[in-house]
Amino acid sequence: MRIGQKIIHLESVDSTNNYAANLAREGNLAPGTVILADEQYAGRGQRMAKWQSQPGMNLTFSYFLDDVNLSVEERFDLTKLVSVTLSGLLKKRGLTSRIKWPNDLYIRDEKIAGVLIETQLSGNRIRSCIIGVGLNVNQTGFEDLNATSLKLETGIHYTIREVLFLFIQSWNEVVDSYKTNSLHITDTYHQLLYHLDEKAQYADNEGEFEAVLTGVTPEGRLMLKREGGIVNYDLKEVRFLPGRSQSKDEFGE
Ligand code: BTN
Repeated sequence: MRIGQKIIHLESVDSTNNYAANLAREGNLAPGTVILADEQYAGRGQRMAKWQSQPGMNLTFSYFLDDVNLSVEERFDLTKLVSVTLSGLLKKRGLTSRIKWPNDLYIRDEKIAGVLIETQLSGNRIRSCIIGVGLNVNQTGFEDLNATSLKLETGIHYTIREVLFLFIQSWNEVVDSYKTNSLHITDTYHQLLYHLDEKAQYADNEGEFEAVLTGVTPEGRLMLKREGGIVNYDLKEVRFLPGRSQSKDEFGE
């Protein structure tokens, strides 16, 4: 699961996830390879969203793993690994971040990074996966997006390569510690959750509601405490509504 032995640097590509998937399909991608692009003209986000990033300003890359050795039920460990890596990377640059479930990185109420994980299954096992990361580095204007960057937070201009190497180093450290003790990552992920134990507004297909985020199940479902009890949600079933109530009171207790 270690990465960075080989780096492919592209000037422009549709999406580094697509590029990696094509090479992997042809059998032409060594495990651990990182694909970095200065520009993506069809960058993809979660929930079918686009990932927009000014060319040359931010870190946009994907990496390929074929030695994951996890069952489908354990797939969410990949999400934990990459989000904890990103939070640790930001910490190394003096920044406190939170993980907005499932794997967005937030500083205060602004997004600084997003992750897109695509897995290939073989029966009940994960055969391989491609993890795509977009981390805002030097971009300072985001139009109507609620976003921030390393430059906005620290005042420092970073080279994209140095941030990539920092990610590679951090990922390899997190993976090494995961191999020694796979339970620890769950605690760390949990502690970093944005709005953990706080009242906030959410919406499901029946409308808006107030709830307290109490955790995430091992399969990665969001656990929300609503009037009437705890309900578990998949990614497509619930949405967090930003900028609403944020008191620490809990229902009932
Ligand atoms: C999200 O927050 O919705 C996920 C964003 C993931 C963006 C990265 S950028 C590199 C890789 N290639 C893509 O097309 N998407 C991911």
